[in-house]
Amino acid sequence: MIKNIAVLTSGGDAPGMNAAIRAVVRSGISNGWTVYGVRHGYRGLINGQIESMGTRDVGGILQQGGTILGSARCPEFTTVDGRKLAIRNLNQRGIDALVVIGGNGSQTGAYELYKMGFPVVGVASTIDHYLVGSEITIGVDTALNIALEAIDRLKVTASSHQRAFIVEVMGRKCGYLALMAGIAGGAEAITLPEHKTDPEEIAESLRLSYEHGKNHALIVAAEGAELNARTLTEFFVAHRDRLGFSVRSTILGHVQRGGNPNASDRILASKLGAGAVESIAKEQFGVLIGLNKSKVTATPYEEIVGKTKELDEELFELAEKLD
Ligand code: F6P
Repeated sequence: MIKNIAVLTSGGDAPGMNAAIRAVVRSGISNGWTVYGVRHGYRGLINGQIESMGTRDVGGILQQGGTILGSARCPEFTTVDGRKLAIRNLNQRGIDALVVIGGNGSQTGAYELYKMGFPVVGVASTIDHYLVGSEITIGVDTALNIALEAIDRLKVTASSHQRAFIVEVMGRKCGYLALMAGIAGGAEAITLPEHKTDPEEIAESLRLSYEHGKNHALIVAAEGAELNARTLTEFFVAHRDRLGFSVRSTILGHVQRGGNPNASDRILASKLGAGAVESIAKEQFGVLIGLNKSKVTATPYEEIVGKTKELDEELFELAEKLD
């Protein structure tokens, strides 16, 4: 019989995490349970920063970016001793199950906790998109739209000065955000971790665009690509005479993570948070709650941990056709 559950957010924050916390807290309370919030992810779990939360504690957070619980990257949790401390703290408070809202690293940690016997349910949340087990994760859509807004603005100033802009977007070793931002932003070139790109080819396409009278050029670079903002800028500086355009670069970085969640992320997070509580009510643990074919699903951790999503090659081909 479930009586008490806890929820934490872990790893890089993602817009929509608050909406997921709210859904866990409110659906847990409506099941008659006590819901605890853990501060600062696994670090707070180890340090015992665990407080009960009421319905009003999650009022007014649906539309806020970040996470009211705080998040952290916690190397100590990767050790067995760290996880034993975490389980001791959960048991001391009589907590029957834990919801972990986060991405790949966080769900790997959750799986380790589950293998040590603690009931855990994960919620798919990361802007990086490469978490297997959910076609879309909380935060991706907002992060993509933030990147796109920046790209649209940069194209305006690029056109005024006949410049080429390199815009670097986040996503670790996953090129999804760069590819989608590149397609939606009308990029001349996109560099991705999953594909090797010849900088000579990009330089040649910039030169041709310039000669045809284009007043700007856009290159979207994934932070995890070999050709990121730094390496591409170095290459272009060394070949500036051939390009025509002068070059500037912008690294969007954490700006992409800090926005307020858009409607899709609020709804997705609400569905997945409530889905995690349903899974706990069914005593179905060791699963990641995600969205697949428009349905909330629970995928066993053993099917997802250690894997990453592959790039959609059809989208890559589309991007190449349209550049
Ligand atoms: O995992 C999300 C993410 O934003 C990645 O895209 C990025 O590489 C990383 O986190 C940055 O990590 P931190 O916030 O620890 O600097």
